[in-house]
Amino acid sequence: MIGDPRSLVTAQIELRDVGKRYETVSGPVLAVEQVSLKVRRQEFLTLLGPSGCGKSTLLGMIGGLVAPDAGQVLIDGEPSTGPNPRKVAMVFQDPGLFPWRTALDNVGFGLELQGVGGARRREVALGLLEPMGLRGFERKYPRELSGGMRQRVAIARALALDTPILLMDEPFGALDEQTRLLMGEWLVGIRRRTQKTIVFVTHSLQEAIALSDRIAVMTSRPGRIKDLFEVPLPYPRDLNSPEVTDLRAKLWDQIREESLRAMEGAP
Ligand SMILES: Nc1ncnc2c1ncn2[C@@H]1O[C@H](COP(=O)(O)OP(=O)(O)O)[C@@H](O)[C@H]1O
Ligand SMILES: [Mg+2]
Repeated sequence: MIGDPRSLVTAQIELRDVGKRYETVSGPVLAVEQVSLKVRRQEFLTLLGPSGCGKSTLLGMIGGLVAPDAGQVLIDGEPSTGPNPRKVAMVFQDPGLFPWRTALDNVGFGLELQGVGGARRREVALGLLEPMGLRGFERKYPRELSGGMRQRVAIARALALDTPILLMDEPFGALDEQTRLLMGEWLVGIRRRTQKTIVFVTHSLQEAIALSDRIAVMTSRPGRIKDLFEVPLPYPRDLNSPEVTDLRAKLWDQIREESLRAMEGAP
């Protein structure tokens, strides 16, 4: 908040020694252990790690959907106690659109819950859909849209809430490679325009390098932060540059080690 001196010094998101254990029929599963991390205002931070390492659990704890059983999550310096739709919006791999609502009405859904009137909802939704290349598609239903378009509608729905924080859990994971690359380029543009703080989850090295200011590599389960990498390269990034090649090799070394550990540790 402008004028609040704390906003200049506090991290937008802070995790203090957070941990999460799930109770399952075959016993407890320690998903995340002792994660401490600060995400800066307007930063694009990616959580990268092998499947099952606890990325979604960690993101869920930031979003207030998963209650940590150790440690604390702070949003703007305040302890988080659950979902906070004024500050945090989320996008998942499955766009989760309502099939009976048009693109426009899907985007306006959160606003409707907030009691925003129809004309204003339409205005906001159109303002988001147009620059996303969805002009002319606002009256279409999800089944009439391609996978990439559906995911853009889901992102527009999250952006409509106008939160300072956007959490994205493998949002392009179900898309083909070309669409995925284009969506990444498009997200870089969105990010520049909206100046949001974004925490992004992926298992793709390429995607992490193309998009992030910082990459947190996680260990295999229980997920901890193994290493943090800054990516001080301007956008759009040349993914064949020597700096990128070098970073990809470093990330791969770490991910490879963790993936092998996960395979060996698998039941
Ligand atoms: N609701 C749940 N109940 C029980 N176990 C879970 C639950 N959610 C996740 N897990 C387990 O916790 C671990 C981490 O899962 P998850 O956070 O989804 O990892 P990732 O997103 O990195 O693939 C996995 O072993 C998973 O099976
Ligand atoms: Mg996941």
